[in-house]
Amino acid sequence: MASTRFAVFGHPIAHSLSPRIHQAFARQFGMQLEFGTIDATPETFGAAVGQFFADGGTGANVTVPHKHAAYALAAERDVSAARVGAANVLSRLPDGRLAAHNTDGACLVRDLRERHGQVLEGSTVLLLGAGGAAWGVAFSLLDAGVGALTIANRTATTAERLVHALGQPDRVQAIPLTRLSGAGHFDLIINATSAGLLGHSLDLPLALGGPEVFCYDVSYAKAALPFLGWARAAGAGHAVDGLSMLVETAADSFAIWHGPHPVTEPVFQQLRRHLAVQAQESSALTV
Ligand code: ATR
Repeated sequence: MASTRFAVFGHPIAHSLSPRIHQAFARQFGMQLEFGTIDATPETFGAAVGQFFADGGTGANVTVPHKHAAYALAAERDVSAARVGAANVLSRLPDGRLAAHNTDGACLVRDLRERHGQVLEGSTVLLLGAGGAAWGVAFSLLDAGVGALTIANRTATTAERLVHALGQPDRVQAIPLTRLSGAGHFDLIINATSAGLLGHSLDLPLALGGPEVFCYDVSYAKAALPFLGWARAAGAGHAVDGLSMLVETAADSFAIWHGPHPVTEPVFQQLRRHLAVQAQESSALTV
């Protein structure tokens, strides 16, 4: 089988796990593919994408900070990309134009249900943050039937904009991050702020926790540590990072480009071990 070219675009991107994930999926089907990382700044992203596809690229994953720009470059967009205004998957159409997909929300929902056994129908959900990551998952949480979605953000007007776009005022409300004390009980708390990525702590009331609360950070590894640390301190029953969501989004991209859907669990476990070894090595270096 001929080798085909894929890449992930981001900034920074050098430490992306996507090439490793896609190569592991390709092995499941005996496929050969090239999967690289392309570091593009916001200024160079459009030209870099154009060059990649002109040089025979078949598909690309797109991550921070380019998801909105990726959406804007596409001639065709799936419903999920259109309502979020952002895309994490670009694919070359037969006529050379680009198609955009957004698989983030559907993959979070699948991960919550199938890997973590969460029942979303009728549940009360607190979504922290109202930026790109929160937009990417909020619509799908409503599709999944959550009973009430509270969006808490540092900047209240940004959360209100997302609530307005979601268009379901009976199920969705915005509150400032500073008003979470006494905001009620939540079955599921999802951190979609970039605080951890920026190395900031998140100042959340411990009273939000409790053994029946499931906490999920859409980021992974070091970026998820502040929120997961809070969740443990608050006595949350379960607290997980978004490494498995990353694997699920890669699997959906793989299916868009190649047809078959890969098996994700062994790849997720392999990445978990890989990151644990990396963390051990970097702590050994700093001792
Ligand atoms: P991303 O695409 O990663 O979501 P983004 O669109 O810049 O990035 O959004 C970042 C989100 O994290 C925003 O909701 C931001 O809050 P503001 O709207 O008030 O800026 C939130 N955020 C970033 N740093 C934060 C911090 N230290 N504490 C709380 N929220 C933070």
